[in-house]
Amino acid sequence: MIRVELPRFDRLAAWRAAARRLASARIQPGAVTWAEAGAAPDLFGAEPLPPPGLHPVRATPDFLALCRQVGFHGDPQRWSLLYTALLRVQEQRDLLGNPADPLVIRLQALARSVRRDIHKMHAFLRFHELPATGPRRRFAAWFEPEHPILQAVTPFFARRFADMDWRIVTPEGVAHFDGALRFSDPVPRPDLPPDASHALWQTYFANIFNPARIKTRAMRSEMPLKYWKNLPETRLVPQMLADAPRRVAAMAAAGASEAPGFAAKVTARLRLPTDETAPATLEQAGAQAAACQRCDLCHAATRTVWGEGDPDAALMIVGEAPGDHEDLRGRPFVGPAGQLLRAVLAEVGLDPDRAWLTNAVKHFKFAPQGKRRLHRNPSAAEIDHCRWWLNQERRLVAPRLTVALGASAALALTGRKAPLTARRGSVEPALDGGPVLLTWHPSLILRLPAAEARAARSDFAADLGRAAAMLGSQARSRSLGSRDQ
Ligand code: URA
Repeated sequence: MIRVELPRFDRLAAWRAAARRLASARIQPGAVTWAEAGAAPDLFGAEPLPPPGLHPVRATPDFLALCRQVGFHGDPQRWSLLYTALLRVQEQRDLLGNPADPLVIRLQALARSVRRDIHKMHAFLRFHELPATGPRRRFAAWFEPEHPILQAVTPFFARRFADMDWRIVTPEGVAHFDGALRFSDPVPRPDLPPDASHALWQTYFANIFNPARIKTRAMRSEMPLKYWKNLPETRLVPQMLADAPRRVAAMAAAGASEAPGFAAKVTARLRLPTDETAPATLEQAGAQAAACQRCDLCHAATRTVWGEGDPDAALMIVGEAPGDHEDLRGRPFVGPAGQLLRAVLAEVGLDPDRAWLTNAVKHFKFAPQGKRRLHRNPSAAEIDHCRWWLNQERRLVAPRLTVALGASAALALTGRKAPLTARRGSVEPALDGGPVLLTWHPSLILRLPAAEARAARSDFAADLGRAAAMLGSQARSRSLGSRDQ
């Protein structure tokens, strides 16, 4: 009996090299045992492989493609089945084209199961972010596929997440990526902490869950139960199922809508506090806004980013919407654009802590791209929906002057869409009557080429300087003053 030992990784290449030599000597399948890493040693010794090149061996492209799938199945018989097929392909080149052949049927079933498993791992693997130790972000994931497919799936993750370091730990072994892929022996399941991206998965899942269309069987077959324990979003399932009848009743009570615009108005009215329940304080308003579902942005964003600063500020500064940093930290203007804003405010003698800093829209709008979240401008409808909150802030802070940063803030405050290029530096009346000074958004300055950025920054500083002047020399000399200064 010839015994072929296959290594833990690169098994398929090892099988192909041995199978070619065996087939070239026309060794019959029953005379070979295929042993995988960890198999018991052969107590009776084993015959060596025959020398290569006795007879030509030819494999067809469809057979090689089948090997690349079947080789990742967990069935220990697969190597022997593939070898049997290889011998038969020498005589019958179109063997795999015969769908009635029992060997073909069996191999195709194994291949199908591997394809399904690879698809599940691509879809359900969730990375956890680890503390950084260098310039690249680090992630780790634990996954239990049905078959030993680690080497089959990792090229996908290497392509997709090429700009970060990661580790995928499975019962079969560990894949390490730091620009190059390498594999090592299995280790115990690591203890991985949840991270911010898990909240994103949960909000996304809660958003796509339709309580009126519960198909638990389909859910289980699309997302088999065995994966649930490692998926952050499935923790929501029991609660969402329990809550479904109440949500369906509420949907029925809300009635059918006729057109998207009409539906949006109806839902806005149903979900929104009306003027009778208008908050009495900024804290109350912030707490209500935290649960806002006026538009769909709430579902993908991590949280509502409410305004902050001096509740008695004479100056209100309104940006467009929180960015990635603001969404993760829950505070406005803490990312690069916010830093530029704060630096220029300081240059013109305005203290950002004594202003009220907020946004036209309170949720981050983005398009996911791999692990990145690319900023998107809110639509006019989203600005419209969120104006209710901006109005609460304006009523409660009652600023003497408002600075609108960029076109979205200008639209939210003045109701006018005309291009900002013709309006920048001017003062227009807000919808509620107060003066609004229009200027560039600092993120525009960060995006422009150097020469244009310098010019835009100097416009921006001039506009904020004008705001300081409008608020009066007394306020300027004490940094930014509140209304009573
Ligand atoms: N850009 C904004 O408009 N607002 C923020 O809070 C941050 C960046």
